[in-house]
Amino acid sequence: MKGGVTPALFSLLEAIINAQNGFNIAKVRADFPILTRETRPGVPLIYLDSAASSQKPNVVIESMNDFYRKSNANIHRGIHTLAEEATFAYENARHKVARFIGADMHRQIIFTRNATESINLVAQTWGRQNLQPGDIVILTEMEHHANLIPWQMLAEQAGIRLEFIEVTPEGLLDLDNYEHLLTLQPRLVCFTHMSNVLGTITPAREIIRMAHAVGALTLVDAAQSVPHFPVDVKDLDVDFLAFSSHKMCGPTGIGVLYGKKDLLEQMPPFMGGGDMIKRVYLRSFVPNEIPYKFEAGTPAIAEAVGLGTAVDYLTSIGMESIAEHERELISYALERLEEVPGVIVHGPSAEKKGGVAAFSLDNIHPHDISQIIDQDGIAIRAGHHCAMPLHDKLKLPATARASFYLYNTPEEIDKLILALYKVKKILG
Ligand code: ALA
Repeated sequence: MKGGVTPALFSLLEAIINAQNGFNIAKVRADFPILTRETRPGVPLIYLDSAASSQKPNVVIESMNDFYRKSNANIHRGIHTLAEEATFAYENARHKVARFIGADMHRQIIFTRNATESINLVAQTWGRQNLQPGDIVILTEMEHHANLIPWQMLAEQAGIRLEFIEVTPEGLLDLDNYEHLLTLQPRLVCFTHMSNVLGTITPAREIIRMAHAVGALTLVDAAQSVPHFPVDVKDLDVDFLAFSSHKMCGPTGIGVLYGKKDLLEQMPPFMGGGDMIKRVYLRSFVPNEIPYKFEAGTPAIAEAVGLGTAVDYLTSIGMESIAEHERELISYALERLEEVPGVIVHGPSAEKKGGVAAFSLDNIHPHDISQIIDQDGIAIRAGHHCAMPLHDKLKLPATARASFYLYNTPEEIDKLILALYKVKKILG
């Protein structure tokens, strides 16, 4: 015991303090093998596309390799050593994810393929079971297609009505407009925690509180928030929360749906098959308990292991430190981008957004910008970023987007700026 603190608590506190004080960018970058590659001889990679997919640290890659080398087997089925090891590894990842987002219990964590599948799951199970023709679901004008099309499909299937919280010219959600929409007695409010285009961090706790006050449930698309800043589902009091592993240093092919226990327990299964059942007869079945009820067939086992390691990795760096690093990067990026004549950055000012800068440069097509700066090893995304209605609102067919993560540096932003001057010279 140290001063009345248990050794476990002491090492936890120590880890937290180290994480807070110890954000060392050189050390972080050394964790990501891809960052040492050149995209052409003598041209190092500058990866500014983490909102699309993040890079993976060695520990994540190795944990998956290790699983395949040593413990690979199917889960929940065999009783041999490998099956038990694989089951433990998969379930352990679920516990890690639950702790990472502050869930009460691991059974509230459903493994899906990605955030998109998590949202479709809610639409097709909770939505189909609970929504009647004419029922209102509120979305926002800044949603990714993943949090739009599942509800449009449900509107076709079940006759629900969709309403949209407007985006202000500054790129924020119009909360007066939201207040008005709430008078329509919606059943569900679904919104992004952070726009993948504008970078806007939405006032999630407030939006959820207001929805609950009129008896509506809430779903948060946390694909761009969980990887970048601390998210606590109990603090938010959110009913459903969806995110993807591949945007948070984990592998592709696995995502998460968190839900409140009572809701998940009452929902019907999503897909049918092995593992999601307790008992099967020729003409019927009894579904399994949560979370297994929603995980039909052999899941992405090695990917779950990788995601669990990604959670450990991010925790060891410290989510608050990562958020702080990204706040510094976005402030610097906006400052530098605004210096470039002809650049318009879309979305709110740095303190209201995460590490995403979507911009236009003169009348140059974003695809051309991206292609030209790729010659300098710089990877950004160009297009509508799976948010066409938001681009309609901005009256733009496409934007160029630089997005940042824990491994990016101000020097990389400087190189982006130089490359944009080059674009202007070639095409301006
Ligand atoms: N949602 C991803 C992006 O914003 C694919 O690029």
